Amino acid sequence: MNLDHPIHEDPEFDALDKYMTEKKPSQVVVVMDRTTEKCALPLIAHVIPESAHPFVLGDDGEGVKSIEHAHALWQGFEEVGVDRSSLVIALGGGAVTDLVGFVAGTFMRGVPCWLVPTTLLAMVDAAVGGKTGINMAGAKNRVGAFCAPVGVSVCANFTATLDDRSIRSGYAEHQKHFLISGAPALEVTRRWAGPKDGPGMESLLASVAASAGVKMAIVREDPLEQKTRGGRAVLNFGHTAGHALESWAMSRDWAHGDLTHGEAVAWGMCVALHLSADAVERAGNKAGTWDKNDLVAEELRQEAAHLTKAVPCPANVLSTIEAQGVKEFAAELWATMEHDKKSRGGKIRWVLLQKVGDATAGCDVSFKEYLSAVQAVLTTESR
Ligand SMILES: NC(=O)c1ccc[n+]([C@@H]2O[C@H](COP(=O)([O-])OP(=O)(O)OC[C@H]3O[C@@H](n4cnc5c(N)ncnc54)[C@H](O)[C@@H]3O)[C@@H](O)[C@H]2O)c1
Ligand SMILES: [Zn+2]
Repeated sequence: MNLDHPIHEDPEFDALDKYMTEKKPSQVVVVMDRTTEKCALPLIAHVIPESAHPFVLGDDGEGVKSIEHAHALWQGFEEVGVDRSSLVIALGGGAVTDLVGFVAGTFMRGVPCWLVPTTLLAMVDAAVGGKTGINMAGAKNRVGAFCAPVGVSVCANFTATLDDRSIRSGYAEHQKHFLISGAPALEVTRRWAGPKDGPGMESLLASVAASAGVKMAIVREDPLEQKTRGGRAVLNFGHTAGHALESWAMSRDWAHGDLTHGEAVAWGMCVALHLSADAVERAGNKAGTWDKNDLVAEELRQEAAHLTKAVPCPANVLSTIEAQGVKEFAAELWATMEHDKKSRGGKIRWVLLQKVGDATAGCDVSFKEYLSAVQAVLTTESR
């Protein structure tokens, strides 16, 4: 299956405009949520034809990824006469692009869909690579499909209305692309540590399309995530421990929003960076190249320290961990990862780095090694 699709650095939406001029879609539909209707639509309105049908979802964020919203959109498409020569435009964060990509990809077996991501996370990650879906019975992305958009317009100006925390969360996935690929275009952003308008923000925004390009290149190599040791699996860097932390937070019954996906992934990347550094040191001791390896390990630990500053774990998460006790906390996360492992019929798969830019998927880690990395991360977080 080919999930390749163009990603346009498109501040004025010329690429989208050109597509509509050339293809002359029978209908144009624009789907957004209540927030993006207010803060994002005005920036793109100049290229949206007057005849376009706007659909404003009656919810915001993760809540839109439901069968009810999918059904309402399918019905709406039917009512306005969407067909396979129409164009559906999704304007929103990752939740909107996931929902709309799925609804367009399944209506009449696939209507062309153009994604206009409006959060940093969606620009560098969610809108890239053709994974779409909705949630079901509390399980994320349980129903979905692989279907590539016909185009993605990246416009960094949308970030002006995002809050600091949202930018930091998006930065986690952005930095992931740098850590696994070492792409020189992203290197300039590695020292951004916030705040939203702080030094380095301009270069961060200038590198958004390059970051999306790193993901696209990996997807192109392994569209359906079939390789176990490399390929698309390296995009899960930080997600093994990160997802377990998300489950841990959800089981505390905190209100949605207390821990963002990006914050959990940043924490998970710190654990993976410490695990990587420890493994590099062990290999150095074994091979007698400890001086060279120690330098690499030190760099990996510095990246973890940087991430902790740029995307800090929320204080309520840290205080709950402290109250629980680090060992008990780490054991609870490990049990979650083991459970996930069983449901996939394999091992806990870690993505580790040999060095910045050199990632390997499918690595084994012992509980002892993992516990030591968790302790190292929490020591840095509490400083
Ligand atoms: N398909 C994939 O490959 C992939 C990859 C990563 C994440 N995701 C999905 O992405 C979703 C998270 O996406 P997200 O982080 O963009 O969050 P989101 O889509 O939930 O949006 C968060 C909030 O920001 C608001 N918002 C959007 N744009 C804004 C703007 N420009 N200014 C102000 N507010 C704005 C939204 O209305 C919403 O309330 C999750 O559902 C996740 O599963 C998918
Ligand atoms: Zn992620």
